[in-house]
Amino acid sequence: MWISREDSAVRVWTPAKVNLFLEVQRRRPDGYHDLATLMVTVGLYDTLEMRPRDDSEVRLRCAHPGLSTGADNLICRAAQLLRQRQGLRQGVDIQLIKRIPMAAGLAGGSSDAAATLAGLNRMWQLGLEVKELSSLGAELGSDVAFFFHGPAAWCTGRGEIVEPIHLGRPLHLVLCTPPVGLSTAQVFQALQVPSVPRSGVEVREAAEKGNIPDLGRNLFNRLEEPAMRLCSEVGKWRERLAQQACLGVLMSGSGSTVLALARDEADAWRVARALNSASEAGEQARVHVVRSCD
Ligand code: C5P
Repeated sequence: MWISREDSAVRVWTPAKVNLFLEVQRRRPDGYHDLATLMVTVGLYDTLEMRPRDDSEVRLRCAHPGLSTGADNLICRAAQLLRQRQGLRQGVDIQLIKRIPMAAGLAGGSSDAAATLAGLNRMWQLGLEVKELSSLGAELGSDVAFFFHGPAAWCTGRGEIVEPIHLGRPLHLVLCTPPVGLSTAQVFQALQVPSVPRSGVEVREAAEKGNIPDLGRNLFNRLEEPAMRLCSEVGKWRERLAQQACLGVLMSGSGSTVLALARDEADAWRVARALNSASEAGEQARVHVVRSCD
């Protein structure tokens, strides 16, 4: 996440994330699930521009169709939570440039919420530390806290217990987002919780050592199977990517984006071109070639 300040305005560039491993440990009494997941931020960004208002309103604008700019948007909820906890009455205009696909397993909404907390902390000169911002973030959503600890972390609990890790080598990925999104709650509902959860030791070690082929062999996501049952597009694009000789293919988060792990940047572009050639006329999956953030 990058924050810049120009006069009274603050601009935040905030990234998407992918999950390279996601196992469900158990269903909790509160309806959530305990997870073990490896999350990595990648170079696909939303931009938020914040300007102070003379009144005490929180206003969000976004040109993206299909995105609510009302009080239910996580950006507005983040701003209101911060104001309430800090006892502030200042208003803010927030303009969002949306590039991260929505309902796509890339945590765009959570990233925007984290960016709002970080940006307003700067604009209103609150002096809150990462720990405080991160714990406010966790109240807004399970993977908001991660964005204060990128670029890579091993996350447990609901996803809000974040242990940053060092990536031994940058990762080159191709993201393929089908035209249909998935609801996280529905995917978790359709999930069969495993009796013996899979260990993430190998995948974590491969990521830390920068052993990309080993990382590719150990990619895993427990939510893939229920997501593919709910949405046939996920399986279709996963299959197409798997045919492109990548090091590994996996759905990110609760879908619907499918990612391919490439050997290097040139390999990632090769995979993206091959995927485009394999697409039939009128098919609308969005393809991004990205690198893990530094
Ligand atoms: O926390 P967040 O609002 O992102 O979660 C969306 C939904 O996904 C939750 O309401 C819950 O149904 C499901 N979820 C879960 N276990 C998690 C994270 C999310 O069951 N660890």
